[in-house]
Amino acid sequence: MKKIIITIDGYSSCGKSTLAKQVAKELNYVFVDSGAMYRAIAYYFIKNNLNWENPADVASALSNISLEFEYNHEKGTSDILMNGENVESHIREMYVNDKVSEVAAIKEIREFTVAEQQKGTINKGIVMDGRDIGTVVFPNAELKIFLTADPEERVERRYNQLLSFGKEAVRDEIRKNLEKRDYIDTHREVSPLRKADDAVILDNTDLTTQEQLEIVLGWANEKINS
Ligand code: DC
Repeated sequence: MKKIIITIDGYSSCGKSTLAKQVAKELNYVFVDSGAMYRAIAYYFIKNNLNWENPADVASALSNISLEFEYNHEKGTSDILMNGENVESHIREMYVNDKVSEVAAIKEIREFTVAEQQKGTINKGIVMDGRDIGTVVFPNAELKIFLTADPEERVERRYNQLLSFGKEAVRDEIRKNLEKRDYIDTHREVSPLRKADDAVILDNTDLTTQEQLEIVLGWANEKINS
């Protein structure tokens, strides 16, 4: 059967990863969380006291960072490893949320991650979520989705997600963080978040995860069978 590339872009906390994981599982495709790569790099800068606005620090960091995904059987999804260390539990912390968009706005950092994301995709069968996947990483993807949801619903989802991770959650802080990240992600000079011209918009504010999954599988099967 034909294998395709599915891209899911959109604002922070719209449920892109949740959807991408489910679609990948149903189709037996590989799921790639591109945001985890920017988060791991941001974590590296913070941990090593480096400044992403200093070109020498950026060059040094990028020459020392190697990223890979490792399947976690217990979770049924992949964890990100940075230089062999599983950094999943660090990269979702608020101090990383707070800085990751600034780090992701740096041109050299984007070039590094985009090259990583495009590796090993010859065989297709990929679902990747992020901000520039349909516009920059895979401009020829067969199915491009631009996911959106009401801002307050997104705050609520992130709040519940943090609680489920056993982390502290304050709605006001989450709201400010989401607003700040969306602003930086849509206004940066290098590949800002925008809907690809040929992407379909999916507003999931009033959809259950099962409902949105069925819609997307319908779209995917149309492309696979065309
Ligand atoms: O999807 P996420 O919230 O884990 O992404 C973290 C940050 O990384 C997000 O604020 C913007 C950035 N990002 C990006 O610029 N491009 C991507 N393809 C994915 C994420």
